[in-house]
Amino acid sequence: MNLPGFPVGRPRRLRTSPALRRLVAETSLNVSQLVLPLFARSGRKLRRPVNAMPGVFQLSPDEIVREATAAHALGVPAVLLFGIPDKKDAKASGAYAKNGIVQQVTRLLKKEVPSLLVITDVCLCEYMEHGHCGIVHGGKILNDPSLKLLARTAASQAEAGADIVAPSDMMDGRVRAIRAELDNEGLIDTPIMSYAAKFASAFYGPFREVAESAPAFGDRRSYQMDAANSNEAIREVALDIQEGADMVMVKPALAYLDIIHRVKTEFGLPTAAYAVSGEHAMIKAAAANGWIDERNVTLESLLAMRRAGADILITYAAMDVARWLKQG
Ligand code: PBG
Repeated sequence: MNLPGFPVGRPRRLRTSPALRRLVAETSLNVSQLVLPLFARSGRKLRRPVNAMPGVFQLSPDEIVREATAAHALGVPAVLLFGIPDKKDAKASGAYAKNGIVQQVTRLLKKEVPSLLVITDVCLCEYMEHGHCGIVHGGKILNDPSLKLLARTAASQAEAGADIVAPSDMMDGRVRAIRAELDNEGLIDTPIMSYAAKFASAFYGPFREVAESAPAFGDRRSYQMDAANSNEAIREVALDIQEGADMVMVKPALAYLDIIHRVKTEFGLPTAAYAVSGEHAMIKAAAANGWIDERNVTLESLLAMRRAGADILITYAAMDVARWLKQG
């Protein structure tokens, strides 16, 4: 680039007023980009706070409707639903039960707040007694036998009215299996947002307390990606796209901005960034101590994800962000 040097070139010229700075801003945050994760469990009037995540609750269906209605009123276009079943077992029955918690809540939300998009997390870990994302045999997490359960889960959620299904298990071939099952059930218009590049991350710690999904033995490193890898993330995303993913996700977000950038540049698909539980917890904790400004740090982090290439921002702070954006 052949830029004029100082004193002809003065970058500060474009920073002299708020209006001018806004005029030349390259990226922006908008409420239409936000997705709010919600955690459903059975009950009534249940709003159970979670130690590790201030402002995040396990909610009964009636409370989910309240929360989702409030988010919708603020302009948040979508929620991402997770379920905490009453009973866990070795085949994750609760994940694909016709009246499973996510299926129930999905039906309810589509009835009460029809224009709110319901994205359902497709995974088995919350429903398995051992907390892994696939079927376990002899201490191993089996890939191919798990696909059928994941596909059934996605189809039953879509059947219940989910607008988008989002597989987060990281089994090989799950997107293909889910697409085939959806199509087979006539659900050809249900898009798949795959957690395509999902890393085995310590930033998921607080989530596992909320979702009660910590693995009972071992860890998730045999299916989630190694934080050391970037080329592998591109291969993972390419495979999911070949298998039928309509949108892709990178997760976590802030520590993986390089991956978001590569994925968006390489494939150009609608790309989501998931600002995960640990990212949220860090901001909340530092802000509670008065060490950082919660609003500005949150907005700056999300803007960084947008700058990296994310179109969709999944964040526990979605409602606060919507309020802040409204205030300008
Ligand atoms: C389920 C799932 C997890 C998250 C989203 N879906 C946990 C995990 O993989 O252990 C993490 C989200 C967060 O930390 O906010 N597989």
